[in-house]
Amino acid sequence: MAMMIPEETVNKIRQETNIVDVVSQYVQLKKKGKNLFGFCPFHEERTPSFSVTEEKQIFHCFSCGRGGNVFTFLMEVDGLSFPEAVIKTADLSQFQLDESLVQDHNHKNQPTDSTKEKLIRVHEESAELFHHILLNTKIGEDALEYLTQRGLTREVIDTFNIGFAPRERTMLQQYLVGKNHEQELLKKTGLFVEKDNGDLLDRFYNRIIFPIRNQQGKTVAFSGRIFQQDAEDGAPKYLNSPETQLFNKRTILFNFDLARPAIRREKEVILFEGFMDVIAAWKVGLTNGIASMGTSLTNEQIHLIDRVTDHVLIAYDGDTAGIEATKRASDLLAAETNFDIDIIRFSEGMDPDEYIKKNGADAFKELIAHGRETLFGFKMAYYRKSLNLSNESERLGYIEKILSELLTVTSAVERELYFKQLASEFELSIDSLKEQFQQKFHESRNQRTKEKQQLYQKQPVERNYPQVQMQKRKPDNIENAERLLLNRLFHFEEAWIIMKNGADDFHFVHDEYQMLFILYESFREHTDNEGPIDAFIDFVKEPELKNLIVEIELLSISNEVTAREIEDYLDMISRKSILQMKLKEKQEALTEASRRGDKDQLRVLMIEVVNLSRLLKNK
Ligand code: GTP
Ligand code: MN
Repeated sequence: MAMMIPEETVNKIRQETNIVDVVSQYVQLKKKGKNLFGFCPFHEERTPSFSVTEEKQIFHCFSCGRGGNVFTFLMEVDGLSFPEAVIKTADLSQFQLDESLVQDHNHKNQPTDSTKEKLIRVHEESAELFHHILLNTKIGEDALEYLTQRGLTREVIDTFNIGFAPRERTMLQQYLVGKNHEQELLKKTGLFVEKDNGDLLDRFYNRIIFPIRNQQGKTVAFSGRIFQQDAEDGAPKYLNSPETQLFNKRTILFNFDLARPAIRREKEVILFEGFMDVIAAWKVGLTNGIASMGTSLTNEQIHLIDRVTDHVLIAYDGDTAGIEATKRASDLLAAETNFDIDIIRFSEGMDPDEYIKKNGADAFKELIAHGRETLFGFKMAYYRKSLNLSNESERLGYIEKILSELLTVTSAVERELYFKQLASEFELSIDSLKEQFQQKFHESRNQRTKEKQQLYQKQPVERNYPQVQMQKRKPDNIENAERLLLNRLFHFEEAWIIMKNGADDFHFVHDEYQMLFILYESFREHTDNEGPIDAFIDFVKEPELKNLIVEIELLSISNEVTAREIEDYLDMISRKSILQMKLKEKQEALTEASRRGDKDQLRVLMIEVVNLSRLLKNK
C-alpha cells in the first residue's frame, strides 16, 4: 500500500487508545484477576481463553497463540492492512486524524486490489447511486414518499443508506461501465442478470434498495423492496442479491456492524424478524437491533452474536409465523447454552414496526424494557396453544412437557415461580410437582452420564484430540531462560547493563529469540530507550514474532530483578550456545576430514561430536 502514516501519528493514536475499549466492541470481556477474559474471536471455543492485559495494552489467546496490540487485533479481526487498522483505531477512539490521510486511504492503489475489494467498491458505488436517485431525483420521488409515509426520516435514510433502483434496467450497468468496471467483474457482483446475447440487465429495478453490510460495515449485497401496487404479479416482496464471493446469507446479520457498540453497552441484542423492524427500532433510539436475512438463525450467526453478548431479546412478529420462528430461534440459541433469552410478544399479530406506528415510540420502549416474557413463560404459552386442556390426557402430557422443559431453567427462584403457577392452574400440590421434577432430573442426569460414557468408549481418539492440541510444546530450561531474559530486557535497564558487561559474543540459542533481541536493541535506539512494549509490537513485522513478544510479556515473574537472576540466565544460555558452536565447528571439520579421507582425524572428531551432542542433550 502506498499510504504511510507518520510514525508520530501512529504512536499518538496508540497512546490515546485503550485496547480494552476497542476489543470490547468485538469480544465480551470479563475481569478475572488482573486480566480480562473472553471468547477468542479468531476461533470457536467453549471456554474463554482470550485475554486482554490493560496495563500492557496487549491481547493474547492462550488457545490459538495469537497476540499483539490494538492494531494487530483490528488487522486480524477485520482483515485490515496496518494503515487501515490505525485509521480504524483512530476512528474508534475518536482521535482527530488529518483529513488528507483518510482521503489517501480511500483512494488507495487500485491495481493491487483483490477481486473482493473491487466487488466491494462496485457495491459501495452502486449504493451511492441508488441513494442519490432516491433523494435527489424526480424518478425517486414516489419511493421517497413511500418511505416517508412509513415514518422514515431523512436521518434514518442516510444512516442505512437506503436508495431507489429505477424502472430503467440498464441504469446501474451504464453507470458502472462509465466508472470503467470490467464486464467480467460486473458479472461477479450478482447485481445483474445476463441476457442470452450476453448483455447485462440490472437485477434490481423499481425497488427500494436496502444495502446489506458485512461485519466491517462494507456493503456486500442489496435487498430490494417492492412498494407499488402495480408491481408485477408474483414478484417477491423482497428481492435479495444472490450468493456471491462477498455475500453469504448464512453469515450476515443485518445491521450487526452499526449495532455492535450498542449491544456492548446494553449488554443485550434485540433480534428482529425483518429489517424494517430493525430500522424502526433504530429510529426510536433502540440501536442494538439486528435481523437475520429472512431465514432461520444459522450457527454462524449465533456465534457472531455469542462473541458480543449473551443476552438475546427475541422480538419477532406477533403472528403465527412469528411465534413459530421465535420457538425455532430460541431452540437454536438455547442449544448454544450460554444465552439468556427473553421474548417480546406483540399483540394482534403486529410486527414491531406496526406496533410503533400504532402505539408510539414510548409504548414500544416500555414494552422492550418491561414487557418481556421469560423464555420458559413463552414456552408454556406455546405448548398450551394447540391443546385442549380440559382433556385429562392432554393436560397430563402438557404438565410432563413443561416439567421436562423446566430442566433447562437454572435459576431456582424462577423454577419456584413456575411450580407455583402450574400448581395453582391445575390444582396440584407443589410438592407432587417437585417430586415429579426431581425424578425427571435424575433420569436426565443418568442419561447424560450414559451418553458421555458411550462417547468415551466409541471415540477415544477424537475425544482426546482437542486436549492434545491445546497442549503447547513445552519450552525446555534453556528456552525458558531465553524468554525470561528477554522479559527482563524489555523492562529493566539493569538487565541491559549486566548483559553488556558480560560476554561480548553472547547470543541466544534459538533464532527467534536472537531475532527479537536484535530487533529490541534497534527499537531502543529508535525510541531513546523509552518505547512501551505495545509500540515494539508495531516495530516488529513478522506475526510469529509479535505473538512471541506477547507470550514473553505475559510470563508471570516477580516485579523486581536481581543481577544474579540475569547472570543465571546468561550463564545457562551461553553455556549451551558455546557447546552448540563447538559442535558446529567439529561437524564441519568432520565433513572436511571425510572429504580428505583422513581416517585418523575422522575417528577423533567422531568421538568429539558424539560427546558434545550428549552434553547438549543433557542441558
Ligand atoms: P415490511 O413488510 O416492509 O414491513 O418488511 P419486514 O421487514 O417487516 O418484512 P417481513 O416481516 O414481511 O419479513 C421478514 C424478513 O423476511 C424481511 O426483512 C426479509 O429479510 C425477508 N423477506 C420477506 N419477504 C421476502 C421475500 O419475498 N423474499 C425474500 N427473499 N425475503 C423476504
Ligand atoms: Mn413489517
